[in-house]
Parts: sequence; C-alpha cells; structure tokens
Amino acid sequence: MANPLAQDLDALRQAIEKTADLGPYAQAFHLTPPVGWLNDPNGLSQLGDTYHAYFQYSPFNPEGGVKMWGHSTSTDMLRWKYEGAALYPDQPFDVGGVYSGSAFVEDGTMHVFYTGNVKLEDSEGYDYVNSGREANTVHVSSDDGAHFGPKKPVLKNEDYPEDDTNHVRDPKVWREGDVYYMVQGARKKDDTGEVILFVSEDLESWKLVNRITSDEPFGYMWECPDYFEIADTARGGVVKVLSVSPQGLRGEDWDRRNVYQSGYFVLQGDVQGDPQLSGFALWDAGFDFYAPQTFATNDGRRVLIGWMGMPDEKSYTNLTLESGWQHCFTVPREVTSRWGRVMQWPIRELEAYRGELHRGFESIDVADSKCFDLMVYGKLPLKRLNVVIADDLHLTWDGKRFEMRFEDTDKSAVGAGRVSRFEPLDELRNVRVVGDMSSIEVFVNDGELTFSTRYYPKNYHVTVDAPDCDVRLWELNF
Ligand code: FRU
Repeated sequence: MANPLAQDLDALRQAIEKTADLGPYAQAFHLTPPVGWLNDPNGLSQLGDTYHAYFQYSPFNPEGGVKMWGHSTSTDMLRWKYEGAALYPDQPFDVGGVYSGSAFVEDGTMHVFYTGNVKLEDSEGYDYVNSGREANTVHVSSDDGAHFGPKKPVLKNEDYPEDDTNHVRDPKVWREGDVYYMVQGARKKDDTGEVILFVSEDLESWKLVNRITSDEPFGYMWECPDYFEIADTARGGVVKVLSVSPQGLRGEDWDRRNVYQSGYFVLQGDVQGDPQLSGFALWDAGFDFYAPQTFATNDGRRVLIGWMGMPDEKSYTNLTLESGWQHCFTVPREVTSRWGRVMQWPIRELEAYRGELHRGFESIDVADSKCFDLMVYGKLPLKRLNVVIADDLHLTWDGKRFEMRFEDTDKSAVGAGRVSRFEPLDELRNVRVVGDMSSIEVFVNDGELTFSTRYYPKNYHVTVDAPDCDVRLWELNF
C-alpha cells in the first residue's frame, strides 16, 4: 500500500539503523532513537496490555531533519522494543513532516491525530509565520499500533481562527461522555500563544468551540497542549490541568531558565466556558525537558513522559552526537495532586528493577553505579543537602534554593556546557534521584519540583552528604 516515497524512506531508514552504534552513553531504560534524532513523545497509549510510544524521529540527521513517527512498545513503560517507523511524511498534506500528535483508543482501535506540516517553496517571499506554511490535522487509525489505514485530513488552516498565524499544531484528543475533544496549540497574529478547543461526535468533523489563553500575554506560541483532570487525593474533587509548552517568555525569571518552557495552568471553570487560569507552574526546572504528553493507563493512572532535550539551545550540547544520535524521553512519571499541588513520581514499575542496596546514615559513597534509584529522607526540618554525581554534578539545598550545578562548564565536560538551574525552596522534605547512563532526574519533596538533565560521566560515582537523613541507593538492573 505504501507509495514510492514511503517505500524509499522505509528502506533508507532500515539501512541507516543497521549502521547504528549508540556508544558509551546508550541509555538502559529511557526510550531513545535507534539512530539519529528524537524529539516529542507522540501517541502515548495502551492497547490491550501493550504500551505504545511514538516519537518525533529523524533517523538521517542527529541534529534534526525530516520528521516521521518512530514507534516503540513495552509492557511496563521501561523496557522498550523499537518497532520501526509507523508514519512517514509521504502525502501532499504532510510532506514537510509528520509532526506531533496524540493517540486515542476506543473499542480496540487506535485513532491517531497529528499535524501534517507543509512548508511551501519560497518563491513568493513567504515569512513562514503568516504565509508559506500549512498545518493540516490528520486522522489515521490502526488495530495494532504498527499498521495504519489511509490518512484523512480533518482540519486545515482555514478551519482555525482567522487571527491565528499558520502556526497551529499538535492535536491532543480525548473523550468525555459522547463527545470527543481536541486541543491544539497556536500562535496568534498579535504574537501571543493560545490553545484552541474543538469538539466532534464522530472524530471526522470538528467544530471550534473555545480559545483559551492567559490574562496577560505569555509567550508568542504555545506548543504541544494537553488537558486532563485528576482527582485530588487529599481534599477530594478534581484538578483540571492545561499543559502547554510556551515559547518566547522574556524577563529576568525566564532568562535564567531554558530557551523554551513546559508547564501547566490549573483551570477553574469549564474548558468549554470561560475558565480562569492559575499562575504557570513548570513541569521541570532542569536543562532538558520539553513538550511532555500524558495519557491514561488502563488501570487509571495519569502518566506523563517528556522529551529530555531542548530545542534551539546553543550553550550546551550532547556528547552522544559523536555516536550519531541525540535525545531520549524522560522516565514515565505518574501525575497526582495533593492539596492542589500537582506532583510527578517515577512510575512504580521502576521499583521492580531495584537490585543491590547501598544504605547509609547521613552519607554514602558509591562507586561505579551507572543506573540507580537514590532516596534521601530525613527527620524534619532538614538542614542541608549535597549530592555529587560523577564528581561534577552537584545537587544542593542550602535552606533557600535547590540547585543543580555542573562544576566544569566546558562543552566536553560531564555537563557538555550546562551550568546551573535552581528554584527557590525554603523547606526540603525528601529527594529522589533516578540515574541512567546519560541522564539524571531529580524529584524534590515527593515530586513537587523536578529537575532533568542529560550528563556524560567519565566515571560513575555518587556521594551524598545529608545531615540526619537516611540515604538509600539501589542499583537498577536492566
Ligand atoms: C515541539 C515541536 C512541535 C512540533 C514538533 C515537530 O518540540 O516543535 O510543536 O509538532 O516539535 O518535530
């Protein structure tokens, strides 16, 4: 069924994947591309007992190129099996890339919605913001997650609000009652970001019903929106979460952080009405985190996976480039709410991989631990904390702020140019650190605050200095 373009892309992809050798920084349990470049998580879903994760994939260029959907499956979201590419840019309406989107499972069928990106040839002086670009919303379905039927465009630029630019993308679809909902991210002509909401009764014809934005302009573009409701385990009721990845935030607070951000607003009121947006909270305050997506597991958990990478970042890099690849996903994180605080915690499946335990009171010093799960708990109030990983990466809390800092700032050093990220924090209760071959994810205060980063150790070594604390480090066996 595949057309000649898809057939050739398929053959070329397989040929380049055969040459791949991910080298010393290959991850053990974080989803990575088999070769080349990976960005956003797409189509996260569970079909029967199998979890499906798709990813923005450019096999031919580790610095990003033509985007297709790579596909991996798992039964526990930690051991991933690469399945090939599920969707190629092979139609006039997606030839510039099968961009991000989501999957929605109903009656054993997976419905995927993605953005078919098109950049027209520049003969007319296009600016590629208000002209020269198409964003087609495409629906395609599958019974097994690997083989998809015909692609059907369901929305095009004329169907989006007139005062939006051509930047509209990343459909996320869900169902409530008999109605299907879809959010998309957009850049308005006045250079502010917004989320647009559509409803449908048949997944084919979609009607625009709302536009949601902040009271004050908040960046020029909101990418990869997501909307979900979770129960608050402490005070009951539901918390309505609107997640977006805004670009173009300026000012002191943002200048010390990443180029682009990912975070969420809590909504008061109906998504279809005139909801009030809370202040914006970051999903992750580390160096490498963008474009997360969530999905509901069959057992009722809300799981979030982010792209552990950062677009358009010039000051730091990834030493995996030498081995022909870049980027990975975060560890899947369960999202919960307590007293209105939204928290992330590594999925419980990770604990099944815990092996040898190193335990100490106030301190430990563990050599050669490559994949690990570290927990530090103490008698409150804690006084201070200092974790040093790979003799270079410092995680510290001094009573005022929690900081992730690389000592050596050279681009060939452990942090490959990364320096410091911090957040104000006046009470520390506990810290969990999950390490893989080339990534560190930190969960502070039961996951109220998280920091993710890639890192490139010369030697694996973890030391902890934490007065009055119980320190436990499990080796993770994958
Ligand atoms: C976010 C993003 C999406 C887009 C995709 C293209 O990282 O820019 O908005 O669909 O990446 O790869």
